[in-house]
Amino acid sequence: MKRYLKALATAAFLSVAMQGHAVADTIKVGVIAPFSGPFAIYGKQFQEAINVYVSQNGTKAGEHTVEFIYKDSGGPKPDVAKALAQELLIKDRVDYLAGFVFTPNALAVAPLLNKAKRPAVIFNAATSIITTKSEYFTRVSFTLWQTAVPLAKWAYEQGMRTVVTAVTDYAPGKDGEDAFKDTFEKLGGKVIDQIRMPLSTKDFSPFLQRIKDKAPDAIFGFLPAGPPTFAFVKAYNENDLKGSGIQFLGTGETDETNLKALGDSAIGITTSYHYSGSHDSDKNREFVGKLKEMYPDSVANLASVGAYDGTHVLYTMIAAAGKDAGKAMEAVKGLTWESPRGPVSIDPKTRHITQNIYIRKVAKDDNGMLINKEFQTIPNVPDLGLQQ
Ligand code: PHB
Repeated sequence: MKRYLKALATAAFLSVAMQGHAVADTIKVGVIAPFSGPFAIYGKQFQEAINVYVSQNGTKAGEHTVEFIYKDSGGPKPDVAKALAQELLIKDRVDYLAGFVFTPNALAVAPLLNKAKRPAVIFNAATSIITTKSEYFTRVSFTLWQTAVPLAKWAYEQGMRTVVTAVTDYAPGKDGEDAFKDTFEKLGGKVIDQIRMPLSTKDFSPFLQRIKDKAPDAIFGFLPAGPPTFAFVKAYNENDLKGSGIQFLGTGETDETNLKALGDSAIGITTSYHYSGSHDSDKNREFVGKLKEMYPDSVANLASVGAYDGTHVLYTMIAAAGKDAGKAMEAVKGLTWESPRGPVSIDPKTRHITQNIYIRKVAKDDNGMLINKEFQTIPNVPDLGLQQ
């Protein structure tokens, strides 16, 4: 009898212990990004950086196996992003979402996250308000407030007093415009004209001519990094704004995937950003080295570091919580790690990344390659947009 009771107790104990113990699962992550169209470079950069992380860390996060499923949003298309998120959550039964290049796409998915209770890691979309739209969002890229405020301060310190802002006419452009103007004018500078350019614009010459006519000390520009930024910087050079003494201030306009094609005319352009492919640290050298080893023709840029760090965040959540979304979000709040961009943490209140912001100028490195050379560091900057 005694023996029987003991066996029963052991069985009960084992059953309770097994319930409390997370089962090793395959955890699916749905990545939504453009893999076709003018912004296809983002999908490529994301996928390569995820593969770099997986090759360094394996396919397991804790005891769970991680599987990535990629879906092509084609570009800034909120309806497509929403339909893809629905498909991933319902049909593919993914446990996490990730990616999101464009603000409208991320915003379109927020209500679905709230309903399905699934975490999503934003690799890029950069309007401050996004993370307030779902408690399941966390973001590892940057915001326009985070980058434009330090840039406006730097411009004022350099003696610039008049600026024209020229931004793409959608949410992140508006954030960039507000952040720059608010900071620059509080210091005593003046934004003498504000230009909003349609997302579909390809010919920037009329806008740059208008800026030239105003003759400000500098232009502050924001366009979504990729083909538009390339065309804009090219038009800045071709309309000889530099020759007229109008400095270029921006964020992602001199993205590493654009630099080679921009050529020497990009030298001297000043940007404020969270990552340079040439960031001087062992961690970055290790990351860029592995990327080059796996994809010899690739260069590391904002999208690469967003996906690489985003995968680190996903692995941390999955290892800690498996499929438990609430627990996963708790695991990410206050998380700190060393990124290829420098030391970073996730602000527990906003779920957005706190990081160094670097003021950079396009210059040549020792091998004659064009790089974004960091020359000033503003440490531990949170998303200043959510503090307004
Ligand atoms: C955005 O839509 O939030 C966005 C897209 C591309 C960028 C920055 C922001 O380079």
